[in-house]
Amino acid sequence: MTAPDTERLHFMQDMQAALSHTPKSISPKYFYDQAGSALFDRICKLPEYYPTRTELSILQTHAADMARHMGEHADIIEFGAGSLQKIRLLLNAATQPARFVPMDISGPHLQTASALLKKEFPALHIQPLVADYTSDWQLPAPLPHAGKRVAFFPGSTIGNFSPQQAHTFFQNCAKHLAGGALLLGVDLIKSPDVLHAAYNDAQAVTAAFNLNLLTRANRELGCDFDLSQFAHSAFYNAPLQRIEMHLLSLKAQTVHLNGHAYAFHEGETLHTEYSHKFTITGVQQAAQSAGLQTTAVWTDPHQLFGLIWLDIPHTQETST
Ligand code: AVI
Repeated sequence: MTAPDTERLHFMQDMQAALSHTPKSISPKYFYDQAGSALFDRICKLPEYYPTRTELSILQTHAADMARHMGEHADIIEFGAGSLQKIRLLLNAATQPARFVPMDISGPHLQTASALLKKEFPALHIQPLVADYTSDWQLPAPLPHAGKRVAFFPGSTIGNFSPQQAHTFFQNCAKHLAGGALLLGVDLIKSPDVLHAAYNDAQAVTAAFNLNLLTRANRELGCDFDLSQFAHSAFYNAPLQRIEMHLLSLKAQTVHLNGHAYAFHEGETLHTEYSHKFTITGVQQAAQSAGLQTTAVWTDPHQLFGLIWLDIPHTQETST
């Protein structure tokens, strides 16, 4: 099976499972087809969506300090071949990085991002890695004479994980980055009004991003979701410190997939995403439970967003 076939099969299985369960829920990873990725890029530029520009401003202000933490000849990994803007700031500040390993589940996306970066950093050793950082992953063998392994996980994408998935992610970092570090971007808890606006923008780009999942299911899986009968719903669940995104059924209706009929009652939702918000202390404790130690924290003046430097101890076998 080719990679697109496997991806389609997983989407089919996950959509079948989502529609068969109560409550209905599907992974946010299915947002990111070509149209969804373009919509996400637009979200990042919206006036209400502060995380991207705030994280960029923190990186701009503190890149030199972050580079000091990296040391010379760092072997830099990025989870998700995301915005080149962010990694570019770190690569420019780093002292002779030994290599850059962008890791992404989408091969084409990774190739495009790597080719663009190569144009800007012709001397940099770039080694793209097609892998799913939400499950277990392996890094390429360390380079001789390279410095510390430093992984960068920006954008508060960790907020889209469940607390259990975040713990597993930290454990995998402890396993694969022993003796190195993780630079983690996290969206901080703030006024519910600000959070609500960030996921309910005036131009309805976030709504289009959410609804695009149904367009994708119609196109790729042959579903028959009637897009005019589902609405974007995003709200802040304060006790659980997370934005929840759902697709809300506006009437009682039936959707078909693979010869099966699935009923939605009026007001029932298909849950599509959690976006957890954090306190710095909360992240430190969660990371610490997998053995990661905070050694530096950078935030913006309004404490909207944080970047946390987490040192990863050597494993017992390798420590002296
Ligand atoms: C990718 N992720 C961190 C974004 C977030 O804010 O949770 C995805 C997103 N969903 C709606 N707007 C942006």
